[in-house]
Formats: sequence, C-alpha cells, structure tokens
Amino acid sequence: MVNLGVLVSGSGSNLQAIIDNIEAGRLEARIKIIISNVPDAFALERARKHGIPSMILSHKGLKREEYDQRLVEVLKANDVELVILAGFMRVITHVLLRAFPMRVMNIHPALLPVFPGTHVWQIEVDSGVKFAGCTVHFVDEGTDTGPIIIQAVVPAYDEDTADTLNARILKQEHKIFSQAIQLYAEGRLEIKGRRVLAKGFPKTPDSFMINPPAKIFEG
Ligand code: GRF
Repeated sequence: MVNLGVLVSGSGSNLQAIIDNIEAGRLEARIKIIISNVPDAFALERARKHGIPSMILSHKGLKREEYDQRLVEVLKANDVELVILAGFMRVITHVLLRAFPMRVMNIHPALLPVFPGTHVWQIEVDSGVKFAGCTVHFVDEGTDTGPIIIQAVVPAYDEDTADTLNARILKQEHKIFSQAIQLYAEGRLEIKGRRVLAKGFPKTPDSFMINPPAKIFEG
C-alpha cells in the first residue's frame, strides 16, 4: 500500500480513474491529500465527492521554489510517499524533486521523448504522425525528460483534430497511470540510468500495428 499525494490544476479525469481503481480494489494505494493550485479546479469537486482530504494551495505571489517548499511541507505532513502530477500545470523545481527523488510521477499525452511540452495534440496532428499515445514517467529536472515507466500507443487518423486525438489518448492515460502506480506499490520498478525496468512483470506479446493498415500484405 503506497501513500499518494495528488497534485492537480484542472478537470481531474486522471485523478478520477485513480480513485475508481483504488475503490475497486485494483490499485493498492491510498490518496492522503489532493492539492490544487487552482481554486475552482473540478478535481476538487471529485475529491469532496469521494471524501478525500484536499486543499487549495495557490502559487500566486510565490517564487517557484517557495511554492514547492510549501508543497513539500504539506506532502510530508500527510506521510506521502509518492507524488502524482495529474494534470498539474506547473513546472516543479529541485525543491520538490530533492524531497521526493524519483518519487514524483507525471502523465504526458505523447510518446515521449517526442512532443514534450504543453498543448501537444495539435502539434501531433500537424506533424502527420500515424501513431500517438501517452507516457507515465518519473519527473526529473527537465521538462518531460524523466525516466519512462509505461506508455500506451493509439492510432492517429486522417480526420483527427486535437480534440479527437486527445479523447483517444486520455482513455489510455486512465489505464496506464494506475498501472504505473501499482507497479511502484508492488516494488517492481527498478531505475537503471534512463531506463525503468518492471521486474517480474509479464512482457507485452511481441506484436505490431500498422496505420493505415497494410491490406495487400495481410497474411
Ligand atoms: C492530461 O492530458 C494529461 O496528459 C496532462 O494533463 C491532462 C490532465 O487531464 N498532463 P485531467 O485533469 O486528468 O483530466
């Protein structure tokens, strides 16, 4: 059982998936505290509905490091072991990372290391990629550069817009974030340089996807 602190700024659909998986007994974790830097984030409503302690910690008027220091104080006071960035729209600093080294996880709506940064769906559509996806990674001091834990791939279609691609990716985010946390809770994640190994976990079957489908070569 791992104690989570979840940081949010917006809708919190990833938070909801984590809550649902915990409540269904699929995820061996408990959420000790949910912290939002945005006062009217819908994620706070979700916290209230499920009776999970939550608070607003505004970043207004604080330097990044000062803000992170406040975060560390709250997270430590709540016995948090693993910090989950679930749509937390702030760059975090060494202050938080040194207090929780390789214990901060983020979800990103692209197959890192390509397409780091924000609002990546339109960039993915415009780039013409045939596959997109999402990544859960440990956070380091760069932007979306930390060791990759798990990824999910989805096709990108000719008619996709940023919104349709986002919706397809988000469905997978809701699965892989909980899976990454469960791997952590089971003590299976071993960090070796840039690589995160999932010890003793079954391999994905050796498989492939082609988009658009390679019809004439079928079979
Ligand atoms: C997701 O797109 C996630 O990839 C990104 O922020 C968004 C959060 O969505 N890091 P939600 O608040 O969980 O619905």
